[in-house]
Amino acid sequence: MLITSAVLLFLNIYAPITIRKLTCTAQGSAVKDKARLIVSAFSSYEKLDGETVGPVVQSMSDLHNARVLVTDAGARCLYDSLGVGGVAGKLVFYPEVAEALEGNDAVHVRCEETLIISKASMPIVAYNRIIGAVYLLERNGNQAQLITSLQRNIFWLSVGLEIAVVIVSVLFALIFSRRMGKLFDSVRKMHGGDYSVRLPERGRDEVARLGVAFNELAQRLNQSEEVRKQFVSNASHELKTPLASIKLLSDSILQNDMDQGTMREFVSDIGSEADRLTRLSAKLLELTRLDTKPPETLSTVAVLPVADRVLRMLNPLARKQNIRLDLDCPADCAITATADDLYQILFNLVENGIKYNVEGGRVLLLARTDPDLVRIDVEDTGMGIPDIEKSRIFERFYRVDKARSRKAGGAGLGLSIVHDMVLRNRGSIEVSDGENGGTRFRLCFPRVGGEEAQS
Ligand SMILES: Nc1ncnc2c1ncn2[C@@H]1O[C@H](COP(=O)(O)OP(=O)(O)OP(=O)(O)O)[C@@H](O)[C@H]1O
Ligand SMILES: [Mg+2]
Repeated sequence: MLITSAVLLFLNIYAPITIRKLTCTAQGSAVKDKARLIVSAFSSYEKLDGETVGPVVQSMSDLHNARVLVTDAGARCLYDSLGVGGVAGKLVFYPEVAEALEGNDAVHVRCEETLIISKASMPIVAYNRIIGAVYLLERNGNQAQLITSLQRNIFWLSVGLEIAVVIVSVLFALIFSRRMGKLFDSVRKMHGGDYSVRLPERGRDEVARLGVAFNELAQRLNQSEEVRKQFVSNASHELKTPLASIKLLSDSILQNDMDQGTMREFVSDIGSEADRLTRLSAKLLELTRLDTKPPETLSTVAVLPVADRVLRMLNPLARKQNIRLDLDCPADCAITATADDLYQILFNLVENGIKYNVEGGRVLLLARTDPDLVRIDVEDTGMGIPDIEKSRIFERFYRVDKARSRKAGGAGLGLSIVHDMVLRNRGSIEVSDGENGGTRFRLCFPRVGGEEAQS
């Protein structure tokens, strides 16, 4: 609004002044040309007198709007086109005439509101002698009125334009501030914890795009809030169960007068519940670490030594359940990862293979280097996972067979840790049925170049 006002103000002041100036200059030169024309008509005269001057001037065209005076060298008027009421025969004391008789051209233009008055005077020179002067006066009302009406039109046009600009600006500001107000309200609501707020996604301008981005953000926050709530409720449930068992067992020991053997059994149960709590809190800590800690720098890790260490660690558990552990991994097989992560991943998968296996079963860890990736399979001959459960087993706290898994001390966190770690190490994981009826987890990692692997 300020800019248009400044531009219109400038237009209203500058344009009329310039037009007036240009018109005055044009009028001045026009009247001077006419005076020069009359002077040239007398260029061959030696002397001027009243009888000869009149007919010469009257025979000239283009002079009907102008008053023409011709004087002799003594400023006596020889001819006045005004006729009656004119100054013919009298001395003329106009300053322009005096200037012309001194040998100079004189041009004066005055611009009034409704009239432009232009005067020009020139000496008539014959044989290097000033024998008289021509004086021309022209009044031009049309041009002046045209300029005045142009000025008025510009003024009213500016007023109209300014009003339109004000209306459009105010409307635009109102609409814009209303939309921004809605956005701010929604942000404030979201800040207060209400993630269900949504903005209308109408239009294609920046505010509409901001609304779309806001809605996406609100949806994601809503989802992560749901996940967080679910996680907290699952975690507290998982913590509550062993704590309740410990409380129950310890109360029984305190209240009942039990024999030594039963008491030992109860205390041993308390110990295994405490172990479960320890394992659970370790896994929860691991998950928090995965969520918060930035990924460590990856290096080349040879798969064989890590896999070997995992199987050695899990051998006692496997032996207890009469399960055979097999390893098939070429010595030069290597991936880009962190050694600790690879250990954790393989440990969790092989541990599951043992825990959810059948008596006398087998777990095979097989690694292969393909042209562009490294494939690691952990396959067991256990009970398998039903197809509809396969997509959910990587969720936190998800267990297929809740009773069996809990009995095995599982909280349903192992695979979600594996999943996060695999992604962090730029790999992928998928689950399918094993060839011999159990489950096969397949990990794929980008292949390390030959030189890198050797180093
Ligand atoms: N090899 C497998 N064979 C059959 N079922 C499996 C296998 N691996 C995982 N599952 C099923 O998937 C569920 C999730 O496994 P996950 O490793 O995440 O948890 P968990 O073993 O129960 O507990 P945690 O690993 O946290 O101690 C298990 O409860 C189990 O029901
Ligand atoms: Mg597990």
